[in-house]
Amino acid sequence: MLRKARWVLIVAAPLALAIASCSGNQSAGPVAGSELYDTCVPCHGVDGGGDPAIKAPPIAGLPEWYVTDQLTHFKSAMRGGHPDDPEGHKMRPMARTLKTEAEGTAVAKYVAGLEPVDVAGTVDGGNATAGAERYNGVCVACHGPDAKGNPDLKAPPLVGQADWYMVSQLHKFRDGWRGAHPDDVWGSQMRAMSMTLEDEQAIKDVVAHIRSMPR
Ligand code: HEC
Ligand code: HEC
Repeated sequence: MLRKARWVLIVAAPLALAIASCSGNQSAGPVAGSELYDTCVPCHGVDGGGDPAIKAPPIAGLPEWYVTDQLTHFKSAMRGGHPDDPEGHKMRPMARTLKTEAEGTAVAKYVAGLEPVDVAGTVDGGNATAGAERYNGVCVACHGPDAKGNPDLKAPPLVGQADWYMVSQLHKFRDGWRGAHPDDVWGSQMRAMSMTLEDEQAIKDVVAHIRSMPR
């Protein structure tokens, strides 16, 4: 799709190509975010609702700053670089298809503009009441009372996020698959917080509480 569109441009506008090649080794003009998103569709879906079967999370409506940061982290292996992280290994090469910072920003803007998708709960056994106590004692400081996140602290919104995905990320933080890189200043703060969740029940409880919040 992307290639085809570029060929059309090249065939239809040899002048534009000539100008582009004069200004350095660039392709013919910036690629639109919607077009870049074609690469993401097989896993995250046309609507950005994700696919639990391949552990690709819903991303529609995540803030632009957060998507941009995470794409950069995947690209540099700050995230998804741990040898035991199969989902990270799927996502990393995808982030690397974005050749320039401008492409990362363009696709992040597109993702942020997608209408958030309500996904079904899949994790049983969480106690939302116990989770609320925990959330309000620890998580609230960065993710906020409504779990809408805080850009100043680089804490993403959690409200509406898939339960299976949040459980998996809390494990990844705790196990040092995410947030353990020496340059990952913000991730390392989250890693410290994940360690307050002492067992599987604690993780399920806090996730059940987050899932009970209205978007
Ligand atoms: C081959 C499947 C696949 C493709 C294609 C793919 N992703 Fe992903 N993506 C994943 C998986 C799996 C994860 C979860 C990684 C993890 O568990 O840490 C992920 C995670 C993410 C996250 C992190 C979400 C969060 O809440 O932190 C973002 C952002 C993201 N992908 C954006 C994209 C974009 C943009 C594209 C297209 C350029 C893309 N992905 C293409 C599989 C894919
Ligand atoms: C000190 C601030 C801080 C506190 C407190 C905190 N977090 Fe986070 N959290 C973050 C940051 C920053 C990130 C993004 C890290 C990154 O960039 O990889 C994050 C990411 C996450 C993610 C991954 C979201 C995604 O889309 O991938 C989950 C889930 C999460 N936090 C849950 C929690 C829970 C549950 C608690 C309470 C036990 C908590 N956080 C407490 C700062 C915090």
